[in-house]
Amino acid sequence: MNPWTHLRSIDPADSGLLPADRTSFLADDGHTLLDVVYDWERAHRELGFGRDPALFAKRLALGAACATGSSEAMLDASGVWRFRELLPFVRAPHDTVSVGEGKTLLQRNDALARLLGFEPWRMPDGSRSDRPGLFLQYEGLNPSGSFKDNGMTAAFSHARMVGAKKVVCASTGNTSASLALYASAAGVPGFVLVGSGKIAMGKLAQALDYGARTLQVDGDFDACLARVRELSTDRPELGVYLMNSINPFRLEGQKTIMFRVLDALGWQPPDWVVVPGGNLGNCSAFAKAFLELHELGMIDRIPRLAVINASGARTLDRIYNELGIRWNHGRCDNASIRTEYSRMDAAGERAATVATAIQINRPVNLPKALRALDVMDGVVRSVDDHCIMEHKALVGRHGFGCEPASAASVAGARRLLEEGIIRPDERVVCILTGHALKDPDATVRYHAIHRHGRAGDVSIPLGCSSNRPVPVADDVEAILREMG
Ligand SMILES: Cc1ncc(COP(=O)(O)O)c(C=O)c1O
Repeated sequence: MNPWTHLRSIDPADSGLLPADRTSFLADDGHTLLDVVYDWERAHRELGFGRDPALFAKRLALGAACATGSSEAMLDASGVWRFRELLPFVRAPHDTVSVGEGKTLLQRNDALARLLGFEPWRMPDGSRSDRPGLFLQYEGLNPSGSFKDNGMTAAFSHARMVGAKKVVCASTGNTSASLALYASAAGVPGFVLVGSGKIAMGKLAQALDYGARTLQVDGDFDACLARVRELSTDRPELGVYLMNSINPFRLEGQKTIMFRVLDALGWQPPDWVVVPGGNLGNCSAFAKAFLELHELGMIDRIPRLAVINASGARTLDRIYNELGIRWNHGRCDNASIRTEYSRMDAAGERAATVATAIQINRPVNLPKALRALDVMDGVVRSVDDHCIMEHKALVGRHGFGCEPASAASVAGARRLLEEGIIRPDERVVCILTGHALKDPDATVRYHAIHRHGRAGDVSIPLGCSSNRPVPVADDVEAILREMG
């Protein structure tokens, strides 16, 4: 590992540095999460990086031109590693496990923006742009079809450097697909634990196809995560390397989603970032990215954050908005969180939502998410399954296929617009975390079944974008009639 890289407890009262080749991803107290931390001055001096973001855009052009060239050129072609000076833990190009991830785009769609209620955004000098300020960061374009590849390339590179022999994850689907892809690229045996019947078909198909040993556990995601933590953390002698987002190297890779957003916006931060919340790795990574960039003097302000839960898996929403628990300089009210978890257990509450990717009741990164909400002056909301599916269909109708969990970000942005928390003239980036083909069953069900009524969380009727398949006779006249 580079000498300027360490791990450190997220508890501000514990500033001791831990070695970066550690594979137990909790502090010595056995429960506090860890951050990857850098001596930035030393790293940037030795890497010769002058903190000019123009370098990253130059690499984008170069990397695209010579993706089959040297290892250095391969790194330039990755949307994660072209920012390598901002996650500088890898020693040399050959330590990196990359499959060309992160070539994703910040997309505009003015028709969708206007339909949701956005207006031309107000520029810093007070004048108005001629276009609304909604942007979609389309992470479904990654090699395995979700944002997870950003984190996997980073965690697999760490795993390679520490000589991991086996890798494991618990998954609601996308982590397993991504782990399976990178395990096969790295030549390491991969094991995934999925809840029986709790995973969308597209994702299961990927894990099987890429050759990961897929264990269907008789339990939900929360149970699977508890089991992989037992395997990797409680029994280090097994040498099993954990790939869930409790692994802080995963989050280093996921920071680059925000680097690409900034790259596309000329390093002018948007007003808001809106992201679906499951295990809360993304929101934690985004806040770390902005905080570090701010400290490095590469941005002059930090955007606000909105984390959107599904109503059937709204632990963060409840803890933040109903119980009022805050980061509180690292002294968050853990006793109340434990009491809440006990209440959920006693009531037999299980996460249940059409957005299976965020069907998680015990988000492992909860403390980091509370810190992220503090750093980014954040808000938390939940949206119900109808609302998610209506917005998924709207996103699809406007040309960007996403899976249900991803649409929670767009549904959440609309809800915050209606509440007046997001202003219509602000610049808002919604993260589309996974591709539509991940969960075709949910899409077909939405279009084939007609519903009446209104979505509870925002003021739109149900089924507004449904596009039913039409049965027709095997006859050209009949077909023409249907074509209008
Ligand atoms: C498509 C999709 N969206 C959102 C999430 C939630 O992300 P996080 O766990 O970082 O909150 C996941 C996690 O599995 C996912 O697969």
